[in-house]
Amino acid sequence: MDCVCKRKGIILSGGKGSRLYPITKGISKQIVPIFDKPMIYYPLSTLMLSGIEQILIITKEEDKDVFKNLLGDGSQLGISIEYAIQHSPDGIAQAFTIAKNFLGDSPAALILGDNLFHGDCLIDKLKNCNSKKNGASIIACPVKDPERYGVVYFDSTQKVVNIEEKPLKPKSNLAVTGLYYYDNTVCDRVKELKPSGRGELEITDLNNLYLKDNQLWIEKMGRGMVWLDTGTFDSLHEASSYIRTIEHRQDLKVGCPEEVAWRMGYINNEQLEKLAKPLYKSGYGTYLLNLLKEHQFHI
Ligand code: G1P
Repeated sequence: MDCVCKRKGIILSGGKGSRLYPITKGISKQIVPIFDKPMIYYPLSTLMLSGIEQILIITKEEDKDVFKNLLGDGSQLGISIEYAIQHSPDGIAQAFTIAKNFLGDSPAALILGDNLFHGDCLIDKLKNCNSKKNGASIIACPVKDPERYGVVYFDSTQKVVNIEEKPLKPKSNLAVTGLYYYDNTVCDRVKELKPSGRGELEITDLNNLYLKDNQLWIEKMGRGMVWLDTGTFDSLHEASSYIRTIEHRQDLKVGCPEEVAWRMGYINNEQLEKLAKPLYKSGYGTYLLNLLKEHQFHI
């Protein structure tokens, strides 16, 4: 079914984050820093780089105000941000039940609030997924430990046969990341899902519904592209080190929504300057102001 509506984005930031206790006992996991910025800045930037300007952040009730204090209504970034509550963590696909009114007739993109994407050619892949009118597009990435994720299983002709959720014996090393693009049939399709063995509405079951209808496309991440998840002490530290290394070497920030807003033309030079001022002492503001300097090589 064709839809002329612009795609809307959802950031799912619920969940207890109990694998990071005690860090996340008092604060939401997606507020925890990855080097120089809160975790949610990364998925927010990813959605914005896809060209998405209307975003819903789904949080636990007790976390909503923290996210609101941080990001407001998004107007400072030239976008719109709304908030909704996930009362109990009943699976990733539940996001579409919660976001039904927000989405209306629009196609959707969903990103998990703890997923970090980076790399050359990433923007092209994101824009490619966003431009698809029908079906579902998901991003997949080769990993060492596919048993921790949804795993794409394909036949000898590379045709996707199935996606298995956390298989004990994975049939490939291609993991499904936490970034999904769906057409506007998604809310209806979610109604067909039944809770899995772990009592959740599985995103993998939703993707398999699209696959059954020949409506699933997989964008594979290649070398030079990075997908990090930040669910354990070690992966959190590794993600911070990765960002720190790149930012120190290139003096280019990763996952900086103010910069993305400016590069996408959502805000102008004056608005960027205004955002930079209160961030001056940490150096973050200086970075934003430097973007406006002449002779700066922009990538
Ligand atoms: C979830 C999905 C899984 C996907 C992963 C990406 O896993 O169920 O298919 O590969 O996110 O981060 P969970 O967060 O439930 O471990």
